[in-house]
Amino acid sequence: MLGVFDSGVGGLSSVKELAKCLPEEALVYFGDTGRVPYGTRSEETIIRYAMQDARFLMEFSPKAILVACGTVSSVALDALQNAFDVPIIGVVAPTAAAAAVATKNRKIAVLGTPATIRSGAYGKQLLQLDPGLEIFSMACPLFVPLVENGHIDPDDPITAAAVAHYLEPVAAFGADTIILGCTHYPLLKQIIGQYVGQQVRLIDAGRESALALKRILTDSGLRSDEGGGQRFFVSDAPADFADTARIFLQKDIREAVKRIDIEKY
Ligand code: DGL
Repeated sequence: MLGVFDSGVGGLSSVKELAKCLPEEALVYFGDTGRVPYGTRSEETIIRYAMQDARFLMEFSPKAILVACGTVSSVALDALQNAFDVPIIGVVAPTAAAAAVATKNRKIAVLGTPATIRSGAYGKQLLQLDPGLEIFSMACPLFVPLVENGHIDPDDPITAAAVAHYLEPVAAFGADTIILGCTHYPLLKQIIGQYVGQQVRLIDAGRESALALKRILTDSGLRSDEGGGQRFFVSDAPADFADTARIFLQKDIREAVKRIDIEKY
């Protein structure tokens, strides 16, 4: 059993990839839809929320937890790893590593929530990998509420305006590689891709974190064949979560989503 959590629907970008690369593993997902967004909150609040999320998942005795949230991975990963006795994997290190490999002109842009960008976590990781990289960081606070409210259609005019607003300076910087450093952002991948053009590589934190989890499970002999199976828990209306999930995962998960009271944890 794998545990996966995010502040909301964003972690589905990891789930989508996990279903492809680890289809035999059973998975429990928690999306904190009642308290999203995390990325505009203080470090103390993000750590408190992350601890509750992990405590809830620990009830299922997971063999590993994937923190499918750029914000929690940037701000609270150490706290989680110190508090729990299972492997806890974040999105920052694998996503930065993939970007450092992908770039040719050594100019990388990082898109993330305000808390992620303030933490400098991606920048630090990238410069450890290659001190010669040029990095441009951009907080995109409107993206998470847009995604949570289902504005993920490639032709959505509101999202297209927000993308143009945040991506104009990124395009001017001339990065050939852009890190979608929040797991909500891959749900906007098509719209972002249309704006920046095909020559720019988009590195998807959801995808890279899922691939990293696969490597870690394989290397540590923790792979198992549980026949798959996904269960979803949220802290607000299950129907809204299932609606966005249906568009993004292209399947109906309504029967598999339940609401819980996360404040009990
Ligand atoms: N998916 C979360 C992340 O990766 C969204 C953060 C938020 O809730 O603001 O950062």
